[in-house]
Amino acid sequence: MPKEDCILVVDDEVVIRELMSDILTDEGFTVFSAPNGRKALEMIRETNKFVVLFTDIMMPEMDGIELIREARKVAPSLVPIVMTGYATLETARAAVKEGAYDYVLKPFNLSEIKMAVSNALERSRLSNENARLLEITELFNISESIASIRSEEKLLEFVLGAALEKVQATRGSLMLVSADGRTLELATCTGLPENLLRTKVDLESSISGWVAKQVQPLLVQDIRTNPTVDKMSWQLTENSFVSVPLERKASPIDETNIMESAIPRVIAVLNVTEKRDGTTFTERDLKILSIVANHAAAALENVRLLRDVEDAQREMVFTLGEIVETRSRETGYHVKRVAEYSKVLALKCGLSLADAEVLRMASPLHDVGKVGIPDAILNKPGKLTPEEFEIIKTHSQMGYDMLKVSKGRILQAAAIIAQQHHEKFEGSGYPLGLKGKDIHIFGRIVCVADVFDALGVKRVYKEAWELDRILDLFKQERGKHFDPEIVDVFFDSIEDILQIRTAFPEPLED
Ligand SMILES: [Fe+2]
Ligand SMILES: [Fe+2]
Repeated sequence: MPKEDCILVVDDEVVIRELMSDILTDEGFTVFSAPNGRKALEMIRETNKFVVLFTDIMMPEMDGIELIREARKVAPSLVPIVMTGYATLETARAAVKEGAYDYVLKPFNLSEIKMAVSNALERSRLSNENARLLEITELFNISESIASIRSEEKLLEFVLGAALEKVQATRGSLMLVSADGRTLELATCTGLPENLLRTKVDLESSISGWVAKQVQPLLVQDIRTNPTVDKMSWQLTENSFVSVPLERKASPIDETNIMESAIPRVIAVLNVTEKRDGTTFTERDLKILSIVANHAAAALENVRLLRDVEDAQREMVFTLGEIVETRSRETGYHVKRVAEYSKVLALKCGLSLADAEVLRMASPLHDVGKVGIPDAILNKPGKLTPEEFEIIKTHSQMGYDMLKVSKGRILQAAAIIAQQHHEKFEGSGYPLGLKGKDIHIFGRIVCVADVFDALGVKRVYKEAWELDRILDLFKQERGKHFDPEIVDVFFDSIEDILQIRTAFPEPLED
């Protein structure tokens, strides 16, 4: 039994207080005593070192039952035991229902008290252990969720929500540190006016700024007595709050880079205030918020890294698309329109917005393989010989081979599209002769978008077709060249499609 546990004895009779103190001190405990509930509650509020509370029931000012009720709000892990005579045994049993753990009868029996204390300590240890386990499990769940979020905005909202929930607070914010490390921007908030979103504050004159600059968490129980930040207290309506930095993991670059001072260590600051029960924040809250902030910082860095990779991919796709255009003398407007048609069709086919967006970004590369086709064939005016057509056909497999090595979402999609945009639904297309739904949905969609657009424009080898003639062809080829469902979706979306066609017209010939 750990002997450093503190016990609080509350009784209006001094004899009882002294007797209990003697017994428990002999057992090696540190004992404090109070003559009534009010005084006892003050002592509990002042320090949370008490593990067991022995209390009388009938006392002036505040009785034992009320004391237990109030004490449990302040110190939920405190184990209360009531001391009672036979006359008030029923009240004592009622107290147990109210949250007392046990009762001991006066006059005291030494072994009974020892037993009660020993049980109470065991109970306290178990409930502490349970609480810790529960906390670890919950924090684990939070960190798992945090790690699975791909969008920065959603991530920040989730982190703030989880933080408020974990420490039972009602108001809070997440401030992002600007790239130059000089200002903080309110990225998301709860319980604050919406119009504050995106507002910026200076690092020098704000509490969050102090936290970001010092790279240190801040737990304030009463701002009026806190010399660190009391000058900035006009920013708050609450007296107690916690601010924790979201710290970037130190990278080896930091040590060698002369730009080190320009890269802020702290990428964001998490602020919470206003406890639901009106109490002040504790060291435990600070610990929990620091754990949440750690996970959030790592996740935020990952999300940004992923975004950078995707930006780089997007740029590469764009550059490649431009090369193809120049090479095949097709205008950039063709690939732009195909991209937009594809997105419209994808959404109408029921694909997610994210997939539709990937398709939009990847579809401009459908003819990337044409960079490998000799100029004389690619830009030959008039009809191609069968041999020349066979060479042209190699562009789809060539495009796939060029792109397939990439691991990125967009380029992987582009590889599939490059390979399958000349497959036909009935199985007579190239290069693989795939049939029906064996052709990837991206391939089936781009096939419709590409043919629709190509027929409508003039090329060195053909005139532009009238719209009616194109639409007739789509009706004829429904289920043959094209996926019948996508043709239906195409006709359903014809207004959007034509709008795109008008929005990106072919430039006039010079
Ligand atoms: Fe093609
Ligand atoms: Fe095309």
